[in-house]
Formats: sequence, structure tokens, C-alpha cells
Amino acid sequence: MKVTIVAAVAQNGIIGIDNRLPWHLPEDLAFFKQTTLGCPVLMGRKTYESINRPLPGRLNVVLSSNSNWQPAPAKDGTARSVIAYPATLPEGSTTQIASATNLADALSWLKDFEQVFLIGGSNLYQQAIDQNLVDGLILTEIHHDFEGDASFPDWDRTRFTEVARTVNPASAERTWGFDFVKYARANVATNTAI
Ligand SMILES: NC(=O)c1ccc[n+]([C@@H]2O[C@H](COP(=O)([O-])OP(=O)(O)OC[C@H]3O[C@@H](n4cnc5c(N)ncnc54)[C@H](OP(=O)(O)O)[C@@H]3O)[C@@H](O)[C@H]2O)c1
Repeated sequence: MKVTIVAAVAQNGIIGIDNRLPWHLPEDLAFFKQTTLGCPVLMGRKTYESINRPLPGRLNVVLSSNSNWQPAPAKDGTARSVIAYPATLPEGSTTQIASATNLADALSWLKDFEQVFLIGGSNLYQQAIDQNLVDGLILTEIHHDFEGDASFPDWDRTRFTEVARTVNPASAERTWGFDFVKYARANVATNTAI
């Protein structure tokens, strides 16, 4: 199983404000969808609640210390069903909500999936980086400072190699540009001096 962080990060490290994204960037939402579609997405309870619906075409695994956590009903009042750890998970492209009460359980539950995306927020990114669980990062690097109350954690860039970058310059609609950047865990063997 490969664990990849997906995040949009402002120049000053901000990723959120008042439990929402600080910017309006439709290109990033489209990129996020294209990147994660068909794979399980693992997120903290606050990030789920900021989206407030399961992301379609993906298995949405929500972490909460509350084993009775339930998502809000759909707009029409229909209750949303939740698969609780350790039940059998459906395939990654099934629109479904699952919940686990700790990160180790969630990852062992997902171990048969080839690719799992860790989609935030700040708290979950920090744990994954601190516990050295991350195989790669797909970041939208926004070349502008934003005000906010949630930040991307510090990470050791020397442990990762940039493998792809798509530059999106500032435009008539936007005074700032942004890049889609992929980082892969650096191969220890190739970094070892001979
Ligand atoms: N820019 C981006 O790409 C991006 C992406 C995602 C989110 N965001 C932003 O990030 C902010 C939310 O981040 P956040 O750090 O406040 O919250 P978060 O990481 O989304 O959620 C934190 C909650 O998740 C649960 N949790 C996390 N780790 C757990 C663990 N190991 N075991 C059990 N439960 C665990 C806990 O829920 P309980 O309290 O229920 O126990 C915890 O309070 C929002 O502003 C959002 O918009 C930005």
C-alpha cells in the first residue's frame, strides 16, 4: 500500500480557515478529483465535516476518536450509512463512508489497496509525517500568503525528491500562480555515498 498526502498549501503554510479552504481555486478541486478518484481517501473528522458529504467515486475513511461518530444526514434528510472498523471494506471506487478510531487501525484496514490518499487536515498530515508513513506528496503550492488557522506541518524535504511540476502562472483572474507538484520518497540507496 502506498500512502500519498494530497494538500493545497499557501506560500505561508496555511491550508485552512474556520474549517474551510481559504481560497477559491476550481482548478485545484478538479486536480484533486482527478488525482484521487477511484482510490480510498483517509481524512480527519473535521475535514470530513468541512466537506460534509462523501466524495463520490471514492471510499471515504474518516478518523474520529468517537467510536459512535456519525456523519450529518444528506440534504434531503436521508441518513448516511457508515462502515465501522473492522467490517469488510468495499472497493476503493465505491462512494461510501467508513470510520476508524485510530490511524493504525485505519491503515491496517486499508492495507490491501494499492494506493491510499491522505487528504487532511493539518492534524492528520502531522501524524503521518511524524510517524514516517508517507511514500509521496502531491501538493498544490500556491504562490500567495493567506490568513488561516490550519497549517501544513513542517516536513523534511531532503527525504523526498520532486518528480513532477506543472506550473500555473498568475492570470487575469488571479494575481497569483500555483504549481501542482509531486514528491516521492527519496530512494535511500541512491542517496548513499559510495
Ligand atoms: N488545503 C488543503 O488541502 C486541506 C485539506 C484538508 C483539510 N484542510 C483544512 O484543514 C482544517 C482541518 O484540519 P484539522 O487539523 O483542524 O482537523 P482534521 O485533521 O481534519 O481532523 C482532526 C480530527 O480527526 C480525528 N483524528 C485525527 N487523527 C486521529 C487519530 N489518529 N485517531 C482518531 N481520530 C483522529 C479527531 O476527531 P475527533 O475530535 O472526533 O476525535 C480530530 O479532532 C480545515 O480548515 C480544512 O479546511 C485543508
